Amino acid sequence: MTEQNDNYDPATDNGADTALALGKGLDVGTANLAAAVQNDEGDITVNVERNAFLDIPSDVYSKNMLTKLKVPYVVHNNKLVVIGEAAFELANVFGRETRRPMMDGLISPQEQDALPMMKMIISKILGEPQVQGENCYFCVPAESLDVDNNIVYHQGLFETMINSMGYNAHAINEAHAVVFSELAENDFTGIGLSFGGGMANACITYKSIPCLSFSVARGGDWIDKNVSSVLGCPRSKATHIKERGIDIRDPKSREEEAVSIYYRSLINYVLSNIKSRFESGQNMPSFNDPVDIACAGGTSMIGGFIEVFRDEFAKIDFPIPVGRIFRSDEALTAVAKGCLVAAAIGE
Ligand SMILES: Nc1ncnc2c1ncn2[C@@H]1O[C@H](COP(=O)(O)OP(=O)(O)OP(=O)(O)O)[C@@H](O)[C@H]1O
Ligand SMILES: [Mg+2]
Repeated sequence: MTEQNDNYDPATDNGADTALALGKGLDVGTANLAAAVQNDEGDITVNVERNAFLDIPSDVYSKNMLTKLKVPYVVHNNKLVVIGEAAFELANVFGRETRRPMMDGLISPQEQDALPMMKMIISKILGEPQVQGENCYFCVPAESLDVDNNIVYHQGLFETMINSMGYNAHAINEAHAVVFSELAENDFTGIGLSFGGGMANACITYKSIPCLSFSVARGGDWIDKNVSSVLGCPRSKATHIKERGIDIRDPKSREEEAVSIYYRSLINYVLSNIKSRFESGQNMPSFNDPVDIACAGGTSMIGGFIEVFRDEFAKIDFPIPVGRIFRSDEALTAVAKGCLVAAAIGE
């Protein structure tokens, strides 16, 4: 049973009092959940929450402490549960790790409370549908090349969850959403890449139709895991080094050097896989004009990302002519925005 305390308001920050156009976009990510909604002027608002939670024993002291700190919580299975960004902050204060409902881009098999927790965070950022059956486009990863994963199950779970909230759920590939967000001026032709926490997703489209999509189970978490193992430090330290504003073109310490090495390896791995998949694929359209490559996702936000990407791109003999290589101005929210664009044009 889940109940909500007085502090908790699922409608917070969802822009529910603005007049909204129909259709919403939802980025279901390993690290972050993001919902994109549109107002009458066509402006897009994106609500982001960490995909994490923390449970605390339900005693009177903990309740008082949370109330004093003004931390919203819910009671679930006789425990006090804090969700999203607040869970992340509280975990840092107490030196604990948050629990994560997803792993490597998909619902985590090791986390039995994953679905109810994610449902709470998603209803908070998405809000109620404006009309029953409003379209909600949500992203799913493509099948991975390097691990055996089950996208069908993951997609089915979220379809059911979003439908149960009164929406009409439609799944869209994550990197396809990057194309919708970033390549409108190119008539939705080009390559969209999403470098996330659990995965990297790639999609090549021709006039909005995907002709190749895949994922690799490597992303920010993979970098953190490797950096922590070569440096012999906790993972959270590796994440901190990575996110503290370094430039991978110019590492200033042994630690930054490790981050930089794994970044280059990740980028090279994704590019080589696009190349080999494209060359072995059948029925590929022939791109006569150069196509643009748009990068998005939290992992692309590190300093020097695009320069290192161009560097690695120059080293391989890419099978199609490429024009601009760029990173989205809003790398963390581009996927949610792309899902909303897909909802708006009825992809
Ligand atoms: N400034 C930054 N520099 C480097 N990495 C960052 C930065 N900000 C966030 N990240 C990393 O971005 C990742 C999260 O990105 P994002 O929110 O796009 O992933 P996600 O969509 O939740 O995951 P996935 O798509 O793999 O399921 C984390 O690994 C995080 O450490
Ligand atoms: Mg993502």
